[in-house]
Amino acid sequence: MAKTGMVIGLIAILAAIGFGIYGVSAAEQPVVFTEEYLNDPEVFKQGKEIWFEQCVHCHGYNAYPGKAPKLKPKRYKPEFVYKRVAKGFKKMPAWEDVYEKEELMAVVAYVKSKNFSP
Ligand code: HEC
Repeated sequence: MAKTGMVIGLIAILAAIGFGIYGVSAAEQPVVFTEEYLNDPEVFKQGKEIWFEQCVHCHGYNAYPGKAPKLKPKRYKPEFVYKRVAKGFKKMPAWEDVYEKEELMAVVAYVKSKNFSP
């Protein structure tokens, strides 16, 4: 009897782990920004496109005064930028339902790149 209980317990634990891994959406999985990734020219290109499509009209030179802050990328960790872009914050829209994780990461890499200029 004790043995059966253990087996059931074990199955419950395995199921919990399974749900833990597969139960979260892509944007909620931890993101890892390596130096290599942040310096990849292909990533930069993809991120730049998204920036000019979606972000520049609020964050660029022609942003309405008081609408969106001019970004100061040196002050941000990539994980912070990712969180703001994926989840939004106050008047900053969330993009996690618009873009794939890779695209969200690319725009972060673009913002963090040395050549970033809104
Ligand atoms: C509709 C206008 C709008 C668009 C489009 C927009 N943002 Fe924002 N964003 C904001 C506003 C407003 C804030 C400030 C939110 C606050 O802190 O109150 C903000 C904040 C941020 C921050 C945090 C800045 C800080 O210093 O705390 C980052 C990073 C950011 N935006 C990146 C982006 C990126 C990347 C895109 C394109 C995918 C984008 N934003 C598109 C309006 C916008």
